[in-house]
Amino acid sequence: MRTLKVSLGDRSYPIYLGEGLVSRAGELLRKAGCGEQVGVVTNPTVAGLYLNPVQEALARSGFRVTSILVADGEGHKSLKSLSAIYDQLVKARFERSSCLLALGGGVIGDLAGFAAATFLRGIPYVQVPTTLLAQVDSSVGGKTGVNHREGKNLIGAFYQPKAVLIDVEVLRTLPRRELLAGLAEVIKYGIIEDAALFALLEEKLEKLLALDRGLLEEAIAASCSIKARVVEKDEREEDYRSVLNFGHTIGHALEALTAYEKFLHGEAVAIGMAQAAAISVGQGLCDAESLGRIHRLIKKAGLPTAIPSNINTPELVKKMEVDKKAAGGKIKFVLCAGIGKTQFCWLSPQEIMARLAA
Ligand SMILES: NC(=O)c1ccc[n+]([C@@H]2O[C@H](COP(=O)([O-])OP(=O)(O)OC[C@H]3O[C@@H](n4cnc5c(N)ncnc54)[C@H](O)[C@@H]3O)[C@@H](O)[C@H]2O)c1
Ligand SMILES: [Zn+2]
Repeated sequence: MRTLKVSLGDRSYPIYLGEGLVSRAGELLRKAGCGEQVGVVTNPTVAGLYLNPVQEALARSGFRVTSILVADGEGHKSLKSLSAIYDQLVKARFERSSCLLALGGGVIGDLAGFAAATFLRGIPYVQVPTTLLAQVDSSVGGKTGVNHREGKNLIGAFYQPKAVLIDVEVLRTLPRRELLAGLAEVIKYGIIEDAALFALLEEKLEKLLALDRGLLEEAIAASCSIKARVVEKDEREEDYRSVLNFGHTIGHALEALTAYEKFLHGEAVAIGMAQAAAISVGQGLCDAESLGRIHRLIKKAGLPTAIPSNINTPELVKKMEVDKKAAGGKIKFVLCAGIGKTQFCWLSPQEIMARLAA
């Protein structure tokens, strides 16, 4: 098992990464200082696979466990699910020292994290991410929240976990499409910060997709370290943290325009990254060779690069303007200044439209 650290003063926490950590949840929660009572928040899909081993591990370490199930799917990252979680915490008499354990993908992590942030004005929680996306992205950094019917993630809080337990073994049951979507975020870290990670992916992608443990750990560790360093610099996304939005301005707009039904988040981000890289070349920031490498790697990972022909570009750009990062008519873009480097850039809707059409 390796241990990475997110250093945020008294809110610092470890990220444990290795095999079989699900069965070591009890011992690791003890280490994190969790009290006697633990609420495991999960969904039926993940519960069927991993709830038993987690419950047994917690019981072995003397914890009292309450399991809290939320229906599977983004639509259940809602105030309604949150309210149902509170009901169960009240019923089971959870106290300030009681702890929540988020067992699932980003939906469960965001929801359980926000429940922990708000119940009794904040109780400790631990992330046990079970999708690649959650392992390299959502479980680290303390963004928690739920969706509002008018928009995603409109209600939430920055609230850091006490620990993150990443068990690479759980990725064996993850549907391939979800795995590839998570991989898009790993590719993103390579593009924005880590040319060596990008080269590793280029060289060993097949092995990684065959779920080679050592490689998975290496890629996840590299990704989490980058996320941790970015969060340490700018925990509340006042400025620098938005570097993590590379590919997301276009990606989010594509997701919104297709009513969150056509693409998984990572798929939309893959297109967003390919397009942002092309815009970067157009702006004279990025060389054509890097652009070629980015497109080739995304495609090799079985992810899309092109905006589907039935998408109306002006409508797509309009969606970007309503994104919360828009200001003064121009849209803030994270552009690529060669693999491993980024630059922020403000672009007008006309400039984006011209580049996307090119
Ligand atoms: N907090 C953050 O910083 C942050 C960052 C990125 C994304 N997010 C949020 O994360 C969410 C998306 O997360 P996601 O992509 O993990 O989706 P998800 O949580 O919906 O999980 C995807 C699917 O995989 C299933 N699943 C999970 N683990 C499994 C396993 N090991 N084996 C088999 N099936 C498994 C789930 O039940 C679900 O059906 C979005 O709500 C997004 O807003 C948050
Ligand atoms: Zn993302």
